[in-house]
Amino acid sequence: MTVPPAPAGDRPAAATTPAAELRFEEVVKRYPGADAATIEGLSLTVPAGEILVLVGPSGCGKTTAMRMVNRMIEPTSGRILIAGRPTAEREPAELRREIGYVIQQTGLFPHRTVADNIATVPRLLDWSRDRIAARTTELLDLVGLDATFAGRYPTQLSGGQRQRVGVARALAVDPPLMLMDEPFGAIDPITRDRLQNELLRLQRAQPRTIVFVTHDIDEAIKLGDRVAVMRPGGHLAQYATPAELLLAPADEFVERFVGADRALKRLALGRVRDLPLERPALVRHDDPSAWVRAQLGDAEVPYPLVVDPDGRPVAWLDEDDLAAERVDAAAGSPVAIVSRDDVLRDAFSTVLAHAVQYAAVVDDAGAVVGVLSSDAVARELAPAPAPAEPEPAA
Ligand SMILES: Nc1ncnc2c1ncn2[C@@H]1O[C@H](COP(=O)(O)OP(=O)(O)OP(=O)(O)O)[C@@H](O)[C@H]1O
Ligand SMILES: [Mg+2]
Repeated sequence: MTVPPAPAGDRPAAATTPAAELRFEEVVKRYPGADAATIEGLSLTVPAGEILVLVGPSGCGKTTAMRMVNRMIEPTSGRILIAGRPTAEREPAELRREIGYVIQQTGLFPHRTVADNIATVPRLLDWSRDRIAARTTELLDLVGLDATFAGRYPTQLSGGQRQRVGVARALAVDPPLMLMDEPFGAIDPITRDRLQNELLRLQRAQPRTIVFVTHDIDEAIKLGDRVAVMRPGGHLAQYATPAELLLAPADEFVERFVGADRALKRLALGRVRDLPLERPALVRHDDPSAWVRAQLGDAEVPYPLVVDPDGRPVAWLDEDDLAAERVDAAAGSPVAIVSRDDVLRDAFSTVLAHAVQYAAVVDDAGAVVGVLSSDAVARELAPAPAPAEPEPAA
């Protein structure tokens, strides 16, 4: 058991359990009476602390694959290992207490308060009341619910709040492994986006090994360190990082599943900082136009960028603006401004919304550090070259 023992002083349980590697070895599941196997020889390894997303059409065996991990379903053959230890050697009840499990919607006990729901496994493990209370407070805070939620019942919560409680409950004993079966499936897109971001934030704060099931390829690409695309019959169509999946779908099935807009989806993966920035000519209001023209020679951007005394972008100038003797910032065009941390998709739409197809990239203080061009983004969108094959000697 990896749950830390309750110390005598009843400190709240510190989140210290190391994440565990998860490994499927030639796992087969054939339900009794079924003609074909539901899972056919599934082999994959999820490194400790990573999110594996299982994605695929309905009925392809995602839930089956996931439930074999905590022995809610027994494999017909093959092995599953958690931190190198075969699950078959473990008591199913013990395994289930150790593995966090979030299921869709119906997961909470309706007649128990939020606090009691969260305390389910700690109670089974005989934690003291003080330790449970402290952990509950800590978890509610972690999932963004204030303490007044502790006494409410699931029916008194919104769908998104219920999901948060589900996540808090699964995290209660700081599991080395979490299973999440379409946890955000029935939630409106905005709340869903927020819950996804919160999951990523929790994951950055303390990485766990997570198996996350979804139908939604966009969710898979956003959350997964690795994505397993399954096809009916429990075959693994591709197991890859999101970028690999988008750049080089293994076959037509994956390509269709990933979608015709996969080039655009790739923009959701990158950040402005990933692209080479261009160097503009930075000038000031009232600079002599002749001097400004001379600066353009060294710049990588055809327009001078007017900045204020703190280096913050003010306006783009064009040839007409330089007809005057001195720079008049008020005559220039508005500047699209993006930060180095922005995702490329958002930066691209900002650039497209402006007449000048260059965005000023700024640092935390708002000062210009470079320029992102729509061309640079378009190059990022260009189809990737096929995996390198040895060139025949010319
Ligand atoms: N207990 C069972 N007995 C017999 N067949 C089952 C059982 N549970 C699931 N199946 C079958 O196994 C296949 C895979 O089911 P599973 O629930 O794993 O799919 P899934 O990928 O999670 O689908 P969904 O996306 O709809 O949740 C389905 O064809 C299903 O009918
Ligand atoms: Mg399912």
